Amino acid sequence: MNLTYRHLVLCVSVAGVLVNAFDPFTTTVFVGVGAALGRTIYRYFQESCNAEWIAFNATGLHADLELKLFGQHIASRIVLKAVSGFMSNNNPKKPLVLSLHGWTGTGKNLMSKLIAENIYKEGMDSSFVHVFTSELHFPHAQQIETYKSELQRWIKGNITNCAQSMFIFDEMDKMHPGLIDSIKPYLDYYDKLDGVSYRKAIFIFLSNAGGIDIIETALEFWRDGRQREEIQLKDLETSLSLSVFNNKQSGLWHTSLIDKNLVDFFVPFLPLEYKHVVLCAMAEMKAKGTEPDQSVADQVAKDLVYFPKTERVFSVKGCKTVESKLDYYT
Ligand SMILES: *[C@@H]1O[C@H](CO)[C@@H](O)[C@H](O)[C@H]1NC(C)=O
Ligand SMILES: *[C@@H]1O[C@H](CO)[C@@H](O)[C@H](O)[C@H]1NC(C)=O
Repeated sequence: MNLTYRHLVLCVSVAGVLVNAFDPFTTTVFVGVGAALGRTIYRYFQESCNAEWIAFNATGLHADLELKLFGQHIASRIVLKAVSGFMSNNNPKKPLVLSLHGWTGTGKNLMSKLIAENIYKEGMDSSFVHVFTSELHFPHAQQIETYKSELQRWIKGNITNCAQSMFIFDEMDKMHPGLIDSIKPYLDYYDKLDGVSYRKAIFIFLSNAGGIDIIETALEFWRDGRQREEIQLKDLETSLSLSVFNNKQSGLWHTSLIDKNLVDFFVPFLPLEYKHVVLCAMAEMKAKGTEPDQSVADQVAKDLVYFPKTERVFSVKGCKTVESKLDYYT
């Protein structure tokens, strides 16, 4: 490096000007203002448990359900009503407990994401939204006792931090029944447990339980030449009943939750048809910021496998693999 005399003079004079400008008094004021500003900015960006960060947008949820979730007229209606009712109640008697049921790729995860995004400014990234997956958080059956106390501690700790916390339990079918038992007290009608009120929290359970029965009902409607939109909740009630859940396959966890009426809403997700997969692909392209292309969407939908073998009505994996297929075609 070739540092000349002229550079040196320049440096020294710049330093001089700086030192002159920041006499002790100015510097103090400056640092003071800076710190205050810093604190404000920090508070502004740091997510807090208040209405600035947590506020339900019913219009937003309604719009999202129309634009982003396809083929689920029953689930959309139930969830919008349930969440709107709960969020507009200043004094709920118990936490909101939703149990989402349906086959793979039908939109259960998407639904929980849309709920979170329309309550928390930070959506799924919010520090008040907690997702638990059996395989990730509670993988070893022999450690069940540790998991139980850990989970209780987490729920209590997080709700103590912020009453309006949300807990999503993915793949409930794989969850150890003992774990579910350990959270039951928090879902119940208690004013307070150990001084903590759980009544403003939201619990969402995702599972495949009842999924096959839901498919059978949807298939019956299709075979009778009836519109999918004609299917009503009452047509699926047996699919979501104790008799169906009460077998080993779908896990025993449901029995005790249903027995005690801790679940407020059972939300069925219908199997998706070709046209829904096309819509998923179009929405996915839009979300990625590329121009939605009908022929690409058709290509993606054609690539998927449909069942039953003869009629090929419903996508085996719903919209689950649409995203990776799109990467392949675009
Ligand atoms: C609620 O959602 C709607 C539709 O997405 C949006 O236009 C509106 O700005 C949102 N309101 C608030 C307060 O965020
Ligand atoms: C909140 O839950 C998370 C798990 O999602 C856990 O890691 C954390 O320790 C909990 N916080 C408190 C204060 O218990």
